[in-house]
Amino acid sequence: MVCFSSVTAGSSLGSWVSSAGGSTSVLSAVVSSEVSVSLMERMMRGWCRMGDRHARDVKATEEKLCIDEGEASRNKAMPRDQTTRTTMIMNCLATKAISTIRPAFTRGIHATTTSTAKVAVLGAAGGIGQPLSLLCKLSPEVDELSCYDIVGTPGVAADLSHIPSKSSTLGRLPSPVKWPMGPNEGLKETLEGADVVVIPAGVPRKPGMTRDDLFNTNASIVKTLVEGCAQFCPDAMIAVISNPVNSTVPIAAEVLKKAGVYNPKKLAGVTTLDVCRANTFVANSQGWDPKDVDVTVIGGHAGITILPLFSRVNGAKFTDEELEALTVRTQFGGDEVVAAKAGAGSATLSMAYAGFVFAENVLKALRGEEVTQCAFVESSLTEAPYFASPVKFGKNGVEEILPLGELSAYEKQWLDKMMPELKKQIQKGIDFVNK
Ligand SMILES: NC(=O)c1ccc[n+]([C@@H]2O[C@H](COP(=O)([O-])OP(=O)(O)OC[C@H]3O[C@@H](n4cnc5c(N)ncnc54)[C@H](O)[C@@H]3O)[C@@H](O)[C@H]2O)c1
Repeated sequence: MVCFSSVTAGSSLGSWVSSAGGSTSVLSAVVSSEVSVSLMERMMRGWCRMGDRHARDVKATEEKLCIDEGEASRNKAMPRDQTTRTTMIMNCLATKAISTIRPAFTRGIHATTTSTAKVAVLGAAGGIGQPLSLLCKLSPEVDELSCYDIVGTPGVAADLSHIPSKSSTLGRLPSPVKWPMGPNEGLKETLEGADVVVIPAGVPRKPGMTRDDLFNTNASIVKTLVEGCAQFCPDAMIAVISNPVNSTVPIAAEVLKKAGVYNPKKLAGVTTLDVCRANTFVANSQGWDPKDVDVTVIGGHAGITILPLFSRVNGAKFTDEELEALTVRTQFGGDEVVAAKAGAGSATLSMAYAGFVFAENVLKALRGEEVTQCAFVESSLTEAPYFASPVKFGKNGVEEILPLGELSAYEKQWLDKMMPELKKQIQKGIDFVNK
């Protein structure tokens, strides 16, 4: 046991020892070098003074130091021999500093910056990435915005940085390939310390394509980026936008599992756009203000795997035909945008809004607010291993997956219909990483 009562946790002395390398061996090496004992004493006195504002004098500080090498030696007086005395004090300091500082480091960087929130957007120069980054830049929840893409992010970040909001903005590209090979510094700087990573990187649909048609390109992009998350920000909440979400979320999970850092509470697919569409369509049909509606949308994020639960919308009245039309329009709302853009991509502005709503809700939850929103997460609600449903988010990410409750006969029939498709797309993602 080391007793070191006068230098408290978090003192500047503790910080100094950590920044100097913070290991007993480093300090022992200094002690055994040519440096004279009296110089060592002087340095020690200086450090003790720095580290303990409350100690009246260095002597008092030293008297409070004791090193216990077992019960027999508890509280024994400091040895008179100066060299041994100095070495013991140095070892004592180093041990105390390391035991104080190490837990903070092993908890991860964000544990030391709980008062600031860092969001990383991967694919930040794209159709979704740019407006999403803009909304993040405007959010009071964001202190640091980190934009990463394979093109254009220095420009995007420079542009955003002129907006007078509190967050700082960083724009990074992948670092050039070099030899010897090293980590992608651009991705590293983007991700280190991130609390939330939002991933809209990848190619969008063209008319006639399903989200699954994007698999071949986007699967590798998401895999590479999540490998970066595993390495540089293993504790961050990862929000996947890149399609096909039904497969890219399982891909992300498998990558994190392989790296030994998978935490199901910290991974979600963003299905918020389905909720936005359902709210808008049902409000329009009823002549309501969409802000007063919050439709639960369950399942996945592709065609028939999207299931809005309109039976739960209080006060809504529609015929069976209207219900069918609203349900199908919500399931295939993305196709409307793809067709209207005529080859120029899929939903970007509404998706940026939806991605931002999701990310900002997660930030609020991480700082202690309880937030419930639909998300595609690892789930045991159905036979599909991942499922979108209302989820409670809190300080640790996903805190609770809420029960599904009773579905109407109409909704049950859609749930049965989607299940084989959803499970197939999930399995495709799992197999991609483990092939
Ligand atoms: N979840 C949803 O509800 C939803 C809705 C709409 C679109 N999407 C999906 O979002 C993705 C992006 O759509 P978009 O319209 O913004 O496409 P986009 O082509 O406009 O932008 C994609 C960006 O990703 C970047 N990128 C590509 N590879 C990268 C890599 N390895 N690392 C970092 N960045 C990389 C590109 O350079 C580009 O800037 C698509 O997969 C699309 O299907 C999802």
